Amino acid sequence: MIYLLDTANPELIRKAHEIYPLAGVTTNPTIIAREKNEFLKIIQAIRAVIGAERMLHVQVVGREAERMAREAEYLAGSVGGDLYIKIPVTPEGLKAIKLLKPRGFKLTATAVFTPQQALLAAVAGADFVAPYVNRLDNSGGDGAQVVAAIRKLFDSYGLPTRILAASFKNARQVHEAALSGAHAVTVNPETLDALLQHPLTDWSVEQFIRDWEGVYAKGKCTD
Ligand code: E4P
Repeated sequence: MIYLLDTANPELIRKAHEIYPLAGVTTNPTIIAREKNEFLKIIQAIRAVIGAERMLHVQVVGREAERMAREAEYLAGSVGGDLYIKIPVTPEGLKAIKLLKPRGFKLTATAVFTPQQALLAAVAGADFVAPYVNRLDNSGGDGAQVVAAIRKLFDSYGLPTRILAASFKNARQVHEAALSGAHAVTVNPETLDALLQHPLTDWSVEQFIRDWEGVYAKGKCTD
């Protein structure tokens, strides 16, 4: 499993990187706008926190393929390191994927809601596809089932494209996406914490330490 953090807040990224085995960060225009700072400054601050070797996924905002391609060139020239350009699976987005793949860009097809969108993006050349699990669940669909169907298609056609499941609001959704064959998940900081936390873990650790300290030195087992 590849874990990514879905936020554009450099401080939250720094904190999460100290704890979790994160392979990088994903952003989208909404979470970047939330930071209320200059776009490039935010992206460069994120890059400074995660280093050049971790993945950074940044989305284009243009509506036409040529505009998306220009934005991809701009990002590649301004943000170093392991960069993935996120492109929505619209007709113009698919056209942009076909334009950018031969130019050597790493691409993440985003705003994926159906297995056929994912298959088209993969055949067009996307490195990752990002199905939106929570948005699917919220609209009466089944995010985990969509992830499973995409995985089945990619495996049966021998496609190298990986599934970066996205848009999670709780730990159960992440768990089900993992069971359904997602290669990677991008999770916001709160949901990432929810994957690790359990009250019985805290209770057990407290009990171990209390029992130890009843007999031995306080809070340590070495000199
Ligand atoms: C990932 O690529 C998306 O930016 C993100 O996960 C969307 O999440 P949301 O549905 O919480 O906005």
